Amino acid sequence: MGKSIIASKNQPLVSRRAFVQRSGAGILGLGLGALSSATACHAEETGNDTFAIIHGPVVQSPGPGEVTVTWHTNRNASSKVLYGTDGQLDHTAVTSRDGLIPNDSTCHAVRLTGLTPGKPFQYRLVSREFKGYITPYVVNHGETVESEVFTCTPLDPAKEYFSFVMWNDIHDDSRRLEAMFNDISWDGVDFVVLNGDILNDFVAHERFFIAFYDSCARKFGAALPMVFVRGNHETRGPWARRFLDFVPGREGRPYYAFDHGGVHFLALDSGEDKPDDNKEYAGLVEFASFREAQTAWLRADLESEAARNARYRIVLSHQPPAPVGCDGFGCQEVRRLWRPLVNAAGARLWLSGHTHDFAWCKPGEDGDNVFHAMTNPPDATVRVDVAPEALKVTVLQKGGEVLHRETIPA
Ligand SMILES: [Fe+2]
Repeated sequence: MGKSIIASKNQPLVSRRAFVQRSGAGILGLGLGALSSATACHAEETGNDTFAIIHGPVVQSPGPGEVTVTWHTNRNASSKVLYGTDGQLDHTAVTSRDGLIPNDSTCHAVRLTGLTPGKPFQYRLVSREFKGYITPYVVNHGETVESEVFTCTPLDPAKEYFSFVMWNDIHDDSRRLEAMFNDISWDGVDFVVLNGDILNDFVAHERFFIAFYDSCARKFGAALPMVFVRGNHETRGPWARRFLDFVPGREGRPYYAFDHGGVHFLALDSGEDKPDDNKEYAGLVEFASFREAQTAWLRADLESEAARNARYRIVLSHQPPAPVGCDGFGCQEVRRLWRPLVNAAGARLWLSGHTHDFAWCKPGEDGDNVFHAMTNPPDATVRVDVAPEALKVTVLQKGGEVLHRETIPA
Protein backbone atom coordinates (compact mmCIF):
# COMPACT_ATOMS: atom_id res chain seq x y z
CA MET A 1 0.00 0.00 0.00
CA GLY A 2 1.48 3.31 -1.01
CA LYS A 3 0.94 6.01 1.57
CA SER A 4 0.55 8.54 -1.19
CA ILE A 5 -2.64 6.95 -2.42
CA ILE A 6 -4.48 6.48 0.83
CA ALA A 7 -4.64 9.39 3.19
CA SER A 8 -4.81 8.64 6.89
CA LYS A 9 -5.93 11.83 8.56
CA ASN A 10 -5.79 10.83 12.18
CA GLN A 11 -4.09 8.36 14.39
CA PRO A 12 -6.27 5.65 15.87
CA LEU A 13 -7.18 6.32 19.46
CA VAL A 14 -6.19 2.79 20.26
CA SER A 15 -5.05 0.03 17.96
CA ARG A 16 -7.82 -2.32 16.93
CA ARG A 17 -6.54 -5.30 18.89
CA ALA A 18 -5.73 -3.25 21.98
CA PHE A 19 -9.13 -1.62 21.77
CA VAL A 20 -10.89 -4.95 21.80
CA GLN A 21 -8.88 -6.24 24.71
CA ARG A 22 -9.14 -3.04 26.71
CA SER A 23 -12.89 -2.73 26.33
CA GLY A 24 -13.33 -5.34 29.03
CA ALA A 25 -16.34 -6.65 27.22
CA GLY A 26 -14.96 -9.68 25.48
CA ILE A 27 -13.84 -13.01 26.81
CA LEU A 28 -10.94 -11.41 28.62
CA GLY A 29 -13.19 -8.95 30.37
CA LEU A 30 -15.91 -11.35 31.36
CA GLY A 31 -13.88 -14.29 32.42
CA LEU A 32 -14.62 -17.69 30.97
CA GLY A 33 -17.05 -18.53 33.74
CA ALA A 34 -19.38 -15.81 32.54
CA LEU A 35 -19.85 -17.31 29.09
CA SER A 36 -23.25 -18.87 28.77
CA SER A 37 -24.15 -21.39 26.16
CA ALA A 38 -26.81 -20.29 23.70
CA THR A 39 -28.68 -23.55 23.75
CA ALA A 40 -32.02 -22.09 22.75
CA CYS A 41 -33.21 -19.01 21.01
CA HIS A 42 -34.69 -17.37 23.98
CA ALA A 43 -33.62 -15.22 26.85
CA GLU A 44 -34.80 -16.45 30.21
CA GLU A 45 -35.59 -13.15 31.86
CA THR A 46 -38.20 -14.86 33.95
CA GLY A 47 -39.01 -14.56 37.63
CA ASN A 48 -42.44 -13.32 38.59
CA ASP A 49 -42.33 -10.21 36.45
CA THR A 50 -45.37 -9.38 34.43
CA PHE A 51 -45.15 -10.56 30.86
CA ALA A 52 -43.94 -7.59 28.82
CA ILE A 53 -42.19 -6.25 25.75
CA ILE A 54 -38.82 -5.25 27.17
CA HIS A 55 -36.70 -4.24 24.15
CA GLY A 56 -37.52 -2.50 20.88
CA PRO A 57 -38.99 -2.08 18.46
CA VAL A 58 -36.20 -1.62 15.98
CA VAL A 59 -37.14 -1.74 12.31
CA GLN A 60 -34.51 -3.53 10.25
CA SER A 61 -33.50 -4.84 6.85
CA PRO A 62 -35.41 -2.58 4.48
CA GLY A 63 -36.39 -3.93 1.10
CA PRO A 64 -38.78 -3.07 -1.70
CA GLY A 65 -41.89 -1.96 0.19
CA GLU A 66 -40.77 -4.13 3.07
CA VAL A 67 -39.25 -3.90 6.54
CA THR A 68 -38.75 -6.32 9.40
CA VAL A 69 -40.00 -5.17 12.80
CA THR A 70 -37.98 -6.64 15.68
CA TRP A 71 -38.66 -6.64 19.41
CA HIS A 72 -38.12 -8.77 22.49
CA THR A 73 -40.31 -10.03 25.32
CA ASN A 74 -39.27 -11.23 28.74
CA ARG A 75 -40.80 -14.65 28.20
CA ASN A 76 -41.56 -16.85 25.21
CA ALA A 77 -44.41 -15.66 23.05
CA SER A 78 -46.09 -15.83 19.68
CA SER A 79 -46.34 -12.47 17.98
CA LYS A 80 -47.91 -10.45 15.24
CA VAL A 81 -47.87 -6.90 13.93
CA LEU A 82 -51.01 -4.93 13.17
CA TYR A 83 -50.29 -2.26 10.58
CA GLY A 84 -51.68 0.02 7.93
CA THR A 85 -51.69 3.57 6.67
CA ASP A 86 -53.57 6.68 7.71
CA GLY A 87 -53.91 5.28 11.21
CA GLN A 88 -55.89 2.22 10.09
CA LEU A 89 -54.24 -0.94 11.45
CA ASP A 90 -56.18 -3.14 9.07
CA HIS A 91 -53.37 -5.52 8.09
CA THR A 92 -51.86 -8.32 10.15
CA ALA A 93 -48.46 -9.92 9.67
CA VAL A 94 -46.97 -12.92 11.44
CA THR A 95 -43.79 -14.86 11.00
CA SER A 96 -44.04 -18.52 10.19
CA ARG A 97 -41.40 -21.06 9.41
CA ASP A 98 -42.46 -24.03 7.31
CA GLY A 99 -46.03 -23.26 8.30
CA LEU A 100 -45.43 -22.93 12.03
CA ILE A 101 -45.63 -19.67 13.96
CA PRO A 102 -42.78 -19.55 16.49
CA ASN A 103 -43.80 -19.85 20.15
CA ASP A 104 -40.49 -20.76 21.69
CA SER A 105 -38.58 -17.52 21.61
CA THR A 106 -38.36 -14.11 23.17
CA CYS A 107 -36.93 -12.71 19.91
CA HIS A 108 -39.63 -11.46 17.56
CA ALA A 109 -39.08 -10.47 13.94
CA VAL A 110 -42.03 -9.90 11.65
CA ARG A 111 -41.62 -8.93 8.01
CA LEU A 112 -44.13 -6.39 6.73
CA THR A 113 -44.63 -6.47 2.96
CA GLY A 114 -46.67 -4.61 0.39
CA LEU A 115 -45.86 -1.22 1.88
CA THR A 116 -46.12 1.81 -0.36
CA PRO A 117 -42.63 3.27 -0.88
CA GLY A 118 -42.26 6.60 0.88
CA LYS A 119 -45.70 6.50 2.48
CA PRO A 120 -45.63 6.41 6.28
CA PHE A 121 -47.38 3.48 7.92
CA GLN A 122 -48.43 2.86 11.49
CA TYR A 123 -47.93 -0.37 13.40
CA ARG A 124 -48.56 -2.01 16.74
CA LEU A 125 -46.71 -4.98 18.25
CA VAL A 126 -48.78 -7.78 19.74
CA SER A 127 -47.21 -10.60 21.75
CA ARG A 128 -49.04 -13.42 23.51
CA GLU A 129 -47.12 -15.31 26.13
CA PHE A 130 -46.73 -19.00 25.41
CA LYS A 131 -46.44 -21.04 28.59
CA GLY A 132 -46.27 -24.48 27.04
CA TYR A 133 -48.17 -27.50 25.86
CA ILE A 134 -50.58 -29.33 28.17
CA THR A 135 -51.14 -31.86 25.40
CA PRO A 136 -50.24 -31.53 21.71
CA TYR A 137 -53.76 -30.18 21.24
CA VAL A 138 -54.12 -27.98 24.31
CA VAL A 139 -51.73 -25.12 24.93
CA ASN A 140 -51.24 -22.84 27.87
CA HIS A 141 -51.24 -19.20 26.84
CA GLY A 142 -50.47 -16.36 29.18
CA GLU A 143 -51.26 -12.69 28.84
CA THR A 144 -51.35 -10.71 25.60
CA VAL A 145 -49.52 -7.39 25.49
CA GLU A 146 -49.83 -4.67 22.89
CA SER A 147 -47.47 -1.79 22.26
CA GLU A 148 -48.34 1.76 21.50
CA VAL A 149 -48.71 2.69 17.83
CA PHE A 150 -45.51 3.63 16.02
CA THR A 151 -44.94 5.26 12.62
CA CYS A 152 -42.24 4.40 10.11
CA THR A 153 -41.65 5.32 6.47
CA PRO A 154 -40.56 2.64 4.00
CA LEU A 155 -37.72 3.46 1.65
CA ASP A 156 -38.50 4.95 -1.74
CA PRO A 157 -36.26 4.37 -4.77
CA ALA A 158 -37.81 7.37 -6.53
CA LYS A 159 -37.00 9.89 -3.80
CA GLU A 160 -34.53 12.57 -4.92
CA TYR A 161 -32.95 13.89 -1.73
CA PHE A 162 -32.17 12.04 1.47
CA SER A 163 -29.44 11.36 4.00
CA PHE A 164 -28.18 8.37 5.91
CA VAL A 165 -25.73 8.00 8.77
CA MET A 166 -23.27 5.26 9.68
CA TRP A 167 -21.42 4.10 12.76
CA ASN A 168 -19.13 1.11 13.20
CA ASP A 169 -16.79 -0.61 15.64
CA ILE A 170 -18.74 0.41 18.71
CA HIS A 171 -17.52 -2.71 20.54
CA ASP A 172 -20.28 -2.61 23.16
CA ASP A 173 -19.68 1.03 24.11
CA SER A 174 -23.26 2.27 23.84
CA ARG A 175 -22.37 5.48 25.67
CA ARG A 176 -19.99 6.41 22.84
CA LEU A 177 -22.68 5.57 20.32
CA GLU A 178 -25.27 7.65 22.15
CA ALA A 179 -22.86 10.59 22.37
CA MET A 180 -22.38 10.43 18.61
CA PHE A 181 -26.15 10.37 18.11
CA ASN A 182 -25.99 13.94 19.40
CA ASP A 183 -23.24 15.04 17.01
CA ILE A 184 -25.50 15.11 13.99
CA SER A 185 -28.63 16.68 12.70
CA TRP A 186 -31.22 13.97 12.16
CA ASP A 187 -33.12 16.13 9.67
CA GLY A 188 -33.47 14.29 6.40
CA VAL A 189 -31.97 11.04 7.74
CA ASP A 190 -33.99 8.14 6.35
CA PHE A 191 -32.06 5.15 7.69
CA VAL A 192 -29.10 4.19 9.85
CA VAL A 193 -26.22 1.88 9.00
CA LEU A 194 -24.34 0.03 11.72
CA ASN A 195 -21.32 -1.30 9.90
CA GLY A 196 -20.09 -4.14 12.05
CA ASP A 197 -18.28 -4.88 15.30
CA ILE A 198 -21.03 -3.12 17.16
CA LEU A 199 -20.89 -6.03 19.59
CA ASN A 200 -17.59 -6.99 21.12
CA ASP A 201 -18.21 -10.72 20.60
CA PHE A 202 -21.70 -12.11 21.16
CA VAL A 203 -20.96 -13.62 24.56
CA ALA A 204 -24.36 -13.21 26.19
CA HIS A 205 -27.76 -12.31 24.84
CA GLU A 206 -28.05 -9.34 27.24
CA ARG A 207 -24.98 -7.85 25.60
CA PHE A 208 -26.96 -7.30 22.43
CA PHE A 209 -29.33 -4.94 24.20
CA ILE A 210 -26.75 -3.18 26.33
CA ALA A 211 -24.29 -2.70 23.46
CA PHE A 212 -26.57 -0.82 21.11
CA TYR A 213 -30.08 -2.16 20.59
CA ASP A 214 -31.72 -0.32 23.46
CA SER A 215 -29.89 2.88 22.56
CA CYS A 216 -31.07 2.60 18.97
CA ALA A 217 -34.62 1.78 20.05
CA ARG A 218 -34.73 4.90 22.19
CA LYS A 219 -33.29 7.18 19.52
CA PHE A 220 -34.70 6.05 16.18
CA GLY A 221 -35.48 2.34 16.05
CA ALA A 222 -39.25 2.48 15.77
CA ALA A 223 -39.21 5.11 13.03
CA LEU A 224 -36.07 4.67 10.90
CA PRO A 225 -34.92 1.39 9.37
CA MET A 226 -31.60 0.06 10.62
CA VAL A 227 -29.20 -1.69 8.28
CA PHE A 228 -26.89 -3.87 10.35
CA VAL A 229 -23.83 -5.10 8.49
CA ARG A 230 -22.26 -7.97 10.40
CA GLY A 231 -18.62 -7.57 11.41
CA ASN A 232 -16.08 -10.16 12.41
CA HIS A 233 -16.80 -9.68 16.13
CA GLU A 234 -20.48 -10.50 15.71
CA THR A 235 -19.36 -13.91 14.46
CA ARG A 236 -17.69 -14.75 17.79
CA GLY A 237 -19.02 -16.08 21.06
CA PRO A 238 -21.70 -18.59 22.06
CA TRP A 239 -24.55 -16.46 20.77
CA ALA A 240 -23.03 -15.78 17.34
CA ARG A 241 -24.97 -18.67 15.82
CA ARG A 242 -28.21 -17.02 16.99
CA PHE A 243 -27.30 -13.66 15.49
CA LEU A 244 -29.89 -13.89 12.72
CA ASP A 245 -32.61 -14.27 15.36
CA PHE A 246 -31.66 -10.81 16.58
CA VAL A 247 -30.66 -9.28 13.25
CA PRO A 248 -32.73 -11.17 10.71
CA GLY A 249 -31.22 -9.83 7.50
CA ARG A 250 -33.27 -10.81 4.48
CA GLU A 251 -34.46 -14.21 3.32
CA GLY A 252 -32.27 -15.93 5.88
CA ARG A 253 -29.09 -14.19 4.76
CA PRO A 254 -27.15 -11.47 6.57
CA TYR A 255 -26.30 -9.77 3.26
CA TYR A 256 -28.75 -8.09 0.92
CA ALA A 257 -29.37 -5.16 -1.39
CA PHE A 258 -31.87 -2.35 -1.07
CA ASP A 259 -32.80 0.77 -2.99
CA HIS A 260 -33.54 4.29 -1.87
CA GLY A 261 -33.37 7.72 -3.45
CA GLY A 262 -31.70 6.65 -6.68
CA VAL A 263 -29.11 4.55 -4.85
CA HIS A 264 -28.64 0.79 -5.01
CA PHE A 265 -27.08 -0.24 -1.71
CA LEU A 266 -25.18 -3.47 -1.17
CA ALA A 267 -24.89 -4.57 2.45
CA LEU A 268 -22.17 -7.22 2.33
CA ASP A 269 -20.96 -9.56 5.05
CA SER A 270 -17.19 -9.95 4.96
CA GLY A 271 -17.15 -12.62 7.67
CA GLU A 272 -14.11 -13.36 9.79
CA ASP A 273 -10.84 -11.55 9.28
CA LYS A 274 -8.47 -14.53 9.31
CA PRO A 275 -8.37 -17.81 7.38
CA ASP A 276 -10.90 -20.41 8.50
CA ASP A 277 -8.18 -22.69 9.85
CA ASN A 278 -6.87 -20.04 12.24
CA LYS A 279 -6.65 -21.51 15.74
CA GLU A 280 -8.90 -18.72 17.12
CA TYR A 281 -11.85 -20.31 15.39
CA ALA A 282 -11.40 -23.82 16.78
CA GLY A 283 -12.38 -25.44 13.50
CA LEU A 284 -15.89 -24.00 13.77
CA VAL A 285 -16.07 -21.56 10.86
CA GLU A 286 -16.35 -21.87 7.10
CA PHE A 287 -16.30 -18.37 5.73
CA ALA A 288 -14.51 -19.31 2.52
CA SER A 289 -17.63 -20.94 1.09
CA PHE A 290 -19.82 -18.26 2.67
CA ARG A 291 -17.94 -15.53 0.82
CA GLU A 292 -17.95 -17.56 -2.41
CA ALA A 293 -21.73 -17.97 -2.24
CA GLN A 294 -22.08 -14.28 -1.52
CA THR A 295 -19.91 -13.51 -4.53
CA ALA A 296 -22.31 -15.42 -6.76
CA TRP A 297 -25.21 -13.55 -5.21
CA LEU A 298 -23.42 -10.21 -5.67
CA ARG A 299 -22.64 -10.96 -9.31
CA ALA A 300 -26.31 -11.69 -10.00
CA ASP A 301 -27.52 -8.71 -8.01
CA LEU A 302 -25.28 -6.28 -9.87
CA GLU A 303 -26.82 -7.50 -13.11
CA SER A 304 -30.32 -6.73 -11.86
CA GLU A 305 -32.35 -3.89 -13.26
CA ALA A 306 -32.37 -2.13 -9.89
CA ALA A 307 -28.58 -2.16 -9.70
CA ARG A 308 -27.99 -1.18 -13.31
CA ASN A 309 -30.58 1.59 -13.41
CA ALA A 310 -29.67 3.24 -10.12
CA ARG A 311 -28.05 6.66 -10.22
CA TYR A 312 -25.47 5.52 -7.66
CA ARG A 313 -24.27 2.21 -6.28
CA ILE A 314 -22.93 2.27 -2.71
CA VAL A 315 -21.28 -0.69 -0.98
CA LEU A 316 -21.33 -1.30 2.77
CA SER A 317 -18.98 -3.91 4.22
CA HIS A 318 -17.34 -4.08 7.61
CA GLN A 319 -13.94 -5.05 6.25
CA PRO A 320 -12.68 -2.74 3.50
CA PRO A 321 -11.24 -3.84 0.20
CA ALA A 322 -7.49 -4.00 0.74
CA PRO A 323 -5.38 -1.95 0.78
CA VAL A 324 -7.72 0.75 2.13
CA GLY A 325 -6.27 0.90 5.61
CA CYS A 326 -6.04 -2.86 5.86
CA ASP A 327 -4.01 -5.63 4.26
CA GLY A 328 -5.23 -8.50 6.44
CA PHE A 329 -6.63 -11.74 5.10
CA GLY A 330 -10.31 -10.72 5.26
CA CYS A 331 -9.62 -7.43 3.50
CA GLN A 332 -7.64 -9.25 0.83
CA GLU A 333 -10.56 -11.59 0.29
CA VAL A 334 -12.93 -8.64 -0.04
CA ARG A 335 -10.56 -7.21 -2.62
CA ARG A 336 -10.10 -10.49 -4.49
CA LEU A 337 -13.75 -11.52 -4.62
CA TRP A 338 -15.83 -8.35 -4.66
CA ARG A 339 -13.70 -5.46 -5.81
CA PRO A 340 -13.70 -6.51 -9.51
CA LEU A 341 -17.48 -6.87 -9.52
CA VAL A 342 -18.07 -3.59 -7.70
CA ASN A 343 -15.61 -1.83 -9.95
CA ALA A 344 -17.19 -3.18 -13.13
CA ALA A 345 -20.61 -2.12 -11.87
CA GLY A 346 -19.39 1.44 -11.50
CA ALA A 347 -20.00 1.90 -7.79
CA ARG A 348 -19.28 5.39 -6.53
CA LEU A 349 -18.66 4.77 -2.83
CA TRP A 350 -17.61 1.89 -0.54
CA LEU A 351 -17.98 2.47 3.22
CA SER A 352 -16.22 0.28 5.77
CA GLY A 353 -14.86 0.15 9.30
CA HIS A 354 -12.76 -2.53 11.00
CA THR A 355 -9.39 -0.78 10.95
CA HIS A 356 -10.15 1.71 13.75
CA ASP A 357 -8.53 4.37 11.64
CA PHE A 358 -9.62 6.86 9.03
CA ALA A 359 -8.58 6.31 5.43
CA TRP A 360 -9.92 7.63 2.16
CA CYS A 361 -8.99 6.31 -1.26
CA LYS A 362 -10.18 8.21 -4.32
CA PRO A 363 -10.83 6.72 -7.75
CA GLY A 364 -7.59 5.84 -9.47
CA GLU A 365 -5.56 5.98 -6.28
CA ASP A 366 -5.49 2.20 -6.05
CA GLY A 367 -5.00 1.19 -9.63
CA ASP A 368 -8.19 1.05 -11.62
CA ASN A 369 -10.69 1.67 -8.81
CA VAL A 370 -13.61 3.76 -10.02
CA PHE A 371 -15.11 4.15 -6.53
CA HIS A 372 -14.19 6.14 -3.44
CA ALA A 373 -13.43 3.83 -0.51
CA MET A 374 -13.17 4.84 3.10
CA THR A 375 -12.77 3.37 6.56
CA ASN A 376 -14.48 5.13 9.42
CA PRO A 377 -12.95 5.18 12.92
CA PRO A 378 -14.92 3.88 15.94
CA ASP A 379 -15.32 7.41 17.28
CA ALA A 380 -16.67 9.11 14.19
CA THR A 381 -19.94 9.48 12.33
CA VAL A 382 -20.39 9.25 8.58
CA ARG A 383 -23.24 11.25 7.17
CA VAL A 384 -24.02 10.97 3.46
CA ASP A 385 -26.32 13.49 1.83
CA VAL A 386 -27.64 12.14 -1.44
CA ALA A 387 -28.87 14.37 -4.26
CA PRO A 388 -29.29 13.80 -8.00
CA GLU A 389 -26.20 15.88 -8.70
CA ALA A 390 -23.79 14.49 -6.08
CA LEU A 391 -23.12 12.47 -2.96
CA LYS A 392 -21.83 14.64 -0.13
CA VAL A 393 -19.96 12.70 2.53
CA THR A 394 -19.16 14.27 5.90
CA VAL A 395 -17.12 12.45 8.54
CA LEU A 396 -17.52 13.93 12.02
CA GLN A 397 -15.17 13.17 14.85
CA LYS A 398 -16.99 12.42 18.12
CA GLY A 399 -17.85 15.84 19.50
CA GLY A 400 -18.69 17.24 16.09
CA GLU A 401 -15.40 18.35 14.55
CA VAL A 402 -15.27 17.70 10.80
CA LEU A 403 -12.68 15.06 9.99
CA HIS A 404 -13.31 14.87 6.26
CA ARG A 405 -15.62 16.14 3.54
CA GLU A 406 -15.96 14.73 0.08
CA THR A 407 -18.27 15.62 -2.79
CA ILE A 408 -18.73 12.84 -5.32
CA PRO A 409 -20.44 14.00 -8.51
CA ALA A 410 -23.10 11.77 -10.07
FE1 LIG B 1 -13.64 -5.73 12.65
